[in-house]
Amino acid sequence: MKIITTKNYEQMSRQVANILSAQVILHPKSVLGLATGSTPVGVYKQLIHWYNKGDIDFSNVTTINLDEYCNLSPTHPQSYRYFMNDNFFNHINIDKSKTFVPNGMADDFVREAQNYDALIQQNGGIDMQLLGMGHNGHIGFNEPNEAFENTTHVVNLAPTTIQANQRFFENIDDVPKQAITMGIKAIMQAKKIILAVSGEEKADILYQSLYGPITPCIPASILQLHAGLTVVADEAAMRVINRRNSL
Ligand code: F6R
Repeated sequence: MKIITTKNYEQMSRQVANILSAQVILHPKSVLGLATGSTPVGVYKQLIHWYNKGDIDFSNVTTINLDEYCNLSPTHPQSYRYFMNDNFFNHINIDKSKTFVPNGMADDFVREAQNYDALIQQNGGIDMQLLGMGHNGHIGFNEPNEAFENTTHVVNLAPTTIQANQRFFENIDDVPKQAITMGIKAIMQAKKIILAVSGEEKADILYQSLYGPITPCIPASILQLHAGLTVVADEAAMRVINRRNSL
């Protein structure tokens, strides 16, 4: 595991964008696993900026997103498909037919999940997976559980996740209670993983994830077993790790 500490959110975003852009420049046909949420917004902004300068070409890149809310249409402003188009895909030269987000409006979620796993395999797996982390240690929407869920599946969102995501909706009742998420297997099979973490409120869970026991109660703890993990965290998120390591 490699840990890169940055001064703040802006620097974290720049570092993560650096790693992703190096991947795309060296391997133009990369399959990138992407995330939504607040954490990667700055990363996408930076990548768009470099694209506009002519430094990166996304025309041969494929992207596979981690998750989507159930029963939100792709045109709903809080759907993850909308988020990805709005924050990233609409501003770069990616072929939209090669950008994949689980279908939150599927009639049959079991089949949608199977198809999504098959799609990941058909594309040769993920070359580089970008992850954020929830306050409860979730990655994708793999919530704390009794066992790691391997495959793409529908999940009941934890009350803390619903609460955390309330900020994007008018009120808590509008926050979807279920999502479809890539499982732990596809994430762990990614050749490289970048975990981006910002903010003091995630400092404790980041410490537990990286230095505590590997347990499905803290899904991100499984990342300790990935040989190609790079953590990019700002100083605030690193506070507990740095304090413990200096004891
Ligand atoms: C989003 C995702 C989630 C988020 C996590 C952190 O696609 O998979 O695991 O990365 O909830 O969200 P933010 O970045 O909003 O704190």
